[in-house]
Amino acid sequence: MFAPSKLLTLAMAIPATLACLGYEGGLPKHTGTKSLKEPMRIKAGQSFDAGWVKYDRGSGACSGGEGDAPALNSFTNPQCHWYYSLKAYTTAAMAPQPRLQGKVAIVTGGASGFGKGIASKFVEEGAQVLIADISDEAGQSVAKELGCAFTVGDVTKREDWERLLKEAIDKFGKLDIVINNAGTTYSNRATGEVTEADFDRVMNVNVKSVYLSTNVIVPYFIEKKIPGNFIQIASTAGIRPRPRLTWYNASKAAVINATKTMAVEYAPQEIRFNSVSPVVGSTGMTHLFIGMENTPENRKAFESVVPLGRGSTPADVANACCYLASDEAAFITGVNLEVDGGRCV
Ligand SMILES: NC(=O)c1ccc[n+]([C@@H]2O[C@H](COP(=O)([O-])OP(=O)(O)OC[C@H]3O[C@@H](n4cnc5c(N)ncnc54)[C@H](O)[C@@H]3O)[C@@H](O)[C@H]2O)c1
Repeated sequence: MFAPSKLLTLAMAIPATLACLGYEGGLPKHTGTKSLKEPMRIKAGQSFDAGWVKYDRGSGACSGGEGDAPALNSFTNPQCHWYYSLKAYTTAAMAPQPRLQGKVAIVTGGASGFGKGIASKFVEEGAQVLIADISDEAGQSVAKELGCAFTVGDVTKREDWERLLKEAIDKFGKLDIVINNAGTTYSNRATGEVTEADFDRVMNVNVKSVYLSTNVIVPYFIEKKIPGNFIQIASTAGIRPRPRLTWYNASKAAVINATKTMAVEYAPQEIRFNSVSPVVGSTGMTHLFIGMENTPENRKAFESVVPLGRGSTPADVANACCYLASDEAAFITGVNLEVDGGRCV
C-alpha cells in the first residue's frame, strides 16, 4: 500500500471522480489527465476488495468493479490509462466536497450574464441561492433552470433589500453571502453628452445598491454573529478606464473603494468585503460598452488589448466569486480581484 502522501499525489494526478481511490498493486502508468464524460462516481466510504478501475483515454470512458480485473492484457493497451488489480477504498476526507455547502447566497442581477453564471456555479458548489433581479420573466426562467429561488427586486430600493433579507431567512433559515452583481451603464458616448438621468441611474444601480445592501444586511450579520461575505462585481473600468464611459468607470471605482473601506471597518466582526473586476465579456450590457451591436467583430477592439487574448466569461467571473465566497478565502478581505486576462497589468 502506498503511503498517504503518495496516495494524495496520485489522487491529484488522476481524473477528479477517481481522485478518492487508493491503490494496491503495480505502479500506475500515468500519461496525463482527461475529464471523464460519463464518470463513474465512487462515493466516499465505498470500497472494493480486490477491485479494479479502468480509464480509457480514447473514449474517456471509465469502468470498474469488484473482483479480479477481467483482462489484464488491457494493461498494455495504450488506450487504457488506468488498469489495475487493486484494492480501492475511499474516505470522506479525500473525497471532493462542494465548496459552498451549507451557505446561503443572494445574487443580484442573476437573471442574465455574469449573475446567471455566478448563481449556477454556487448551486453546483452546494449553496442555496436566491436570485434577485428586476427582470421577472428571465429571473423565473433562470431559477427554474438552475434549481434555485428567485424574487423580483430592484437593488436601488431599500424596501426591496429588506424584503430580500427576509425572504432568504424565511426560505433558507439564514444568509451568509451577498453578491452585488446587478449593474447598468449608458451607451458609450462623449462625456459631455451624458445626461443627468444617465448619471443618476448608473450611480443608483451600481453604487447606491452597495450602500443599501450593506446598510440593511451588515446589522443582521453583526446581530447574528455571522461571518458574512460581500462580493461586489466591479470592473476593470474602475482601475483602468476607457474613454467615453466616464461615469460608469467612476461608479466602479467607487464600488472598489467602498469595498476596501468596509473590509477594514468590519474586519473585527469577521465580515469580509471583496470585489471582482472582469474585463469586457459578452453579456446583456456589452453593446452599451462598445457602443454598437455585440458581435465578435465589434468586440475585437476591446478584446485585442487583453494579454490572454479574449474577453471574460460568466464562468471566469463565477470561479473567482466561488473562491472568495468559500472558506478557502477566510483570510482574504479588501481585495479587488481582476478577472481580466492581464489587462490591468
Ligand atoms: N459585461 C461586461 O463586459 C462587464 C465587464 C465588467 C463588469 N461588468 C459588470 O458585471 C455585472 C453584471 O452585468 P452583465 O455584464 O452580466 O450584464 P447583464 O445585462 O447581462 O446582467 C445585468 C443584470 O442586472 C439586472 N439589473 C439591472 N438593473 C437592476 C436593478 N436595478 N435591480 C435588480 N437587477 C437589475 C438586469 O435585469 C440583468 O439581469 C454588472 O455590474 C456590470 O457592470 C460587466
